[in-house]
Amino acid sequence: MTDVDLAKKRGEEHLKDTLPAIRKTFAYEDTAYHLPISFALTGIAVHDLNTARDVFSKTGNNPIVASECLLAEKTATSGKENAPYTGFIGDTIIRKLGYSLVDGSILGLALVIGTPDSPGAAAAICRELQEKYMLTFLAGPVIPILSDNGVKLGLEYRLIPLGSTPAYGIHFVDIIARVAMMFGGVTPGDASRLLAYAAERAKAIVIVFPGLSDDEIALVDGMRVLGFPILSLGDYSGGAWIPAEADTIVRKGMEEKGIRVNVTAIPIPMGCSPAFEGKSIRKEEMYVEFGGGRSTAFELLRMRPADEVKDGQVKVIGPEIDSMKEGSANPLGIVIEVAGKTMKKDYEPVLERRIHNFVNYGEGSWHVAQRDLIWVRLSKEAVAKGVKIEHLGKLLASKFRMDFPQLLDAVSVTLITDPAKVASARAEAERIYDERDARIKGMRDNDVNTYYSCTLCQTFAPNHVCVITPERPALCGAISWLDGKIAYEISPSGANQPVEKGAVLNAQNGEFDGVNRFVRKASHGEIDRCSLYSVMEYPMTCCGCFEAIALMLPEVNGIMVVNREFKGLTPSGMSFSTLAGTIGGGAQTPGFAGISKNYILSDRFLQGEGGIERLVWIPSQLKDELKNRLVQKLVGKGLGNFFDKIADETKATTIEELMVYLEKVGHPALAMKPLV
Ligand code: SF4
Ligand code: NI
Repeated sequence: MTDVDLAKKRGEEHLKDTLPAIRKTFAYEDTAYHLPISFALTGIAVHDLNTARDVFSKTGNNPIVASECLLAEKTATSGKENAPYTGFIGDTIIRKLGYSLVDGSILGLALVIGTPDSPGAAAAICRELQEKYMLTFLAGPVIPILSDNGVKLGLEYRLIPLGSTPAYGIHFVDIIARVAMMFGGVTPGDASRLLAYAAERAKAIVIVFPGLSDDEIALVDGMRVLGFPILSLGDYSGGAWIPAEADTIVRKGMEEKGIRVNVTAIPIPMGCSPAFEGKSIRKEEMYVEFGGGRSTAFELLRMRPADEVKDGQVKVIGPEIDSMKEGSANPLGIVIEVAGKTMKKDYEPVLERRIHNFVNYGEGSWHVAQRDLIWVRLSKEAVAKGVKIEHLGKLLASKFRMDFPQLLDAVSVTLITDPAKVASARAEAERIYDERDARIKGMRDNDVNTYYSCTLCQTFAPNHVCVITPERPALCGAISWLDGKIAYEISPSGANQPVEKGAVLNAQNGEFDGVNRFVRKASHGEIDRCSLYSVMEYPMTCCGCFEAIALMLPEVNGIMVVNREFKGLTPSGMSFSTLAGTIGGGAQTPGFAGISKNYILSDRFLQGEGGIERLVWIPSQLKDELKNRLVQKLVGKGLGNFFDKIADETKATTIEELMVYLEKVGHPALAMKPLV
């Protein structure tokens, strides 16, 4: 048994003696906060022995400060540790994490440190932390012990291996110091605000396994001033550490810190938590897939009268997983029926979009896109553990009930895998999508003062923000202005926020000072200006889920559009997937914009570039899909003969052919103001 108080005293003395051994100067990469803890406490940027000494004495010989300086020097001297160790985590990642802390998908932070006696117990603790929506950092021998026992580590699993020794636990604290400065408005040097912020706002706990040295005990004990409860498993006595047992330590720690979990375990053979949301299932890891252009698939959520929805009912119509070949693509229809006294039909698309998140919560299930464009995979690992199609339904039914208790009284899920039935149900779903889209038709951007944002995709593209207006549906095609408004009504602190337009800065490009202000903040300062209707100047950022890409073709003074389904080369010389790879990730790329297909029908489409007359090329399949509505629109504008002037791949596949075609038909873009 180590006496915590005694060890701590010895550790503090020892750290103090070791500090003068600092020789090198040091600085971490990708941070604006120097050594973040020292900087937050004193406002001093520590980069060498003199500043380290200065800050150490100013903070009353704080063992955390000493540990921070010593580790920074060690990292500068011997370099970063190899993978899987992350070492110091840069500001970019923290900003991304910060958002999840805000939206409730991370409930708190945990540091797990030391040398567990039992690998099984350590793995169980980490799993419980994942399932209770905690973001967990690991330091010391616990890391190899976990990975040798098959536990997957990494940010995408919310188990972050900081470094090989417990001393790397300091990075847990430097993250919280930065969260306080980045999001909490704590000014560097304002130690009392930092401590108050950490104690009140940082929902952090520390779980200690045996084997810490005196220095490490001093470091961990120092974290108590930040209000983190320290829970220990054996081997320590005395001090203010809370003794605990392996099977209750997580619950005890969370209770101690007042972290409330209302996560009920879902009885399916795979884990289910936002901890798994960011993972991917690669082709080699997948057992079966659905949709993604390889088979017919769709999802639909509908409201039904209460007596028609049997709560919790899950049906599979068609073959189950056992009769699907490994590696195959199969048809799938996900139909969710809901009932509830406060539920409104208008809310359907908003809830439907959550299917994406919930399926990704499954440890072995993966989902992208929406509506009839979905792509779903189940992993081999999950199927080996007994996961069936039915369990996707159970997961969805449970999550909808859990996350919308005020709204939903009953949820049932039907999963259709029978090919003919998927096809007919999809036709019906498409009719419903059209109805929804029609509902906001007719409303104009000028009629409202408030637009809505969407930052759901910040899970993947941390600085991406969509601004959705009545005449500009979101680039993913799933969220209209009305959806944004309703989502905000259902959950006022969610991913859809009102955006006050503010003053008009450029009417043609659709630039507003209120929108700029919002985008600047929501993109964490990355994007300064955003024009809603321009492809060329300050276009909206792109995540990855755009239905189509609009891009300039300077050679013909026009703009082309290519949708995701088109597989060939476009006159730009690139295919959709190559183009998609060059934009996205939350970046703003002048000359390119991610758009929804329906936006092409909007009066605001290409307004910044002079209007739809700029449109020179779209794939024939998309042209057909839009034909009736687009022709009607064009006739209304007195552009009745324009539709046939838009080229497609049957008219031109290269820029030269396109030029010839446009000249032949007398395309108006050729005579418009030069694009560049
Ligand atoms: Fe939201 Fe935009 Fe992502 Fe669609 S693309 S889910 S609107 S952030
Ligand atoms: Ni996206």
